[in-house]
Order: sequence, then structure tokens, then C-alpha cells
Amino acid sequence: MAIRRIEILGSEVLRTPGEEVETFDGELESLVDDMFRTMYHAEGVGLAAPQIGLSLRLFVVDVPEDEDEGREGFRAALVNPEIIERSAEVEKAPEGCLSIPGMEGVVERPVSVVMEARDPQGEPLRIEASGLLARALQHELDHLNGVLFIDHLSPLNRKMLLRKWEKARAEAEEETAPL
Ligand code: CO
Repeated sequence: MAIRRIEILGSEVLRTPGEEVETFDGELESLVDDMFRTMYHAEGVGLAAPQIGLSLRLFVVDVPEDEDEGREGFRAALVNPEIIERSAEVEKAPEGCLSIPGMEGVVERPVSVVMEARDPQGEPLRIEASGLLARALQHELDHLNGVLFIDHLSPLNRKMLLRKWEKARAEAEEETAPL
């Protein structure tokens, strides 16, 4: 059991579509365990396998309960997930990503989705989600297809975000004094 290194924008694996998981065994369960640990350590609400360097169709999510917004908590590991229904209604909301730390962009997505997947034991799951959970499920599924939230931004907004990202990266490098 370990905290894994999170791949950052620019890494090839983030742009590589994941392969279906075919074996549901102890190894998968311990990978899921590592993914939850890594996600909590990085204080995220979702983490997909490509983000830790594995081209697999698998992600973990933990959207906390929020009484003010009338939202129930949802925690799961979803294997080979698919969206089988999406609402025509869309909404815009800010999104970030553990692989593009410090950056945020407003992304338009369907308000609600129905997702089917397997749990780490291979049992089928069906999730009807709306609001933040629906957004998280769509964001994580994108990762399994090599898609990042910045791909959903307008060309101008993407350009601005990438410029800010490169500036922040360059500054971080300067701060690291050579030994
Ligand atoms: Co992400």
C-alpha cells in the first residue's frame, strides 16, 4: 500500500486512452486502495488510473456530503465505466485537476448522467448522478479517454490557462535552488 506519484500535464499517459480492466483480483483491490490513498493525500475528490501512470479504465471518486446543498456523499471505485445517459440540460462550473495543480477553468457539462460500471470485485454498478457528482464522474471518465478539462475550454480560455500554467511552472523551477 503506497501513495503513488501523480502525473502532471505534459505526461504522455494522460493523453493515452486506457484499456479495459479484465481481471478482478487482489492486485486490482490493492491498486484501488493506493488510488484512494493518493487521492486523499492530494486532497482531490477524484483520481483516474492514467493520473498515476496506468493506462487502465478505472477511477476512484469521493464526493463529500453537503447538507446545505442537499447533497449525499458518494465514494466508490469504478471499473470500465460508461455513461449510458446524459441530460440535455447543461451547466457551467469551475473545475480543477490533480494533474494540472493550481489551475481552474469553467467547464460546461450535462447536469446529470447515468453511469454503469463494475466495482473492484466485478459486480455491476449503476449510478444516477447530478450536480458535483455528475461533474466528477464525467471529468474522471474523460481521463480514461485521454481527455483533460482544459480540452473543454474555448481556445482563448485554454491559451490563457496554459500561459498561466507555464509561468507558474517556470517560477516553481526558479525557486528550487541547485545543490
Ligand atoms: Co482530473
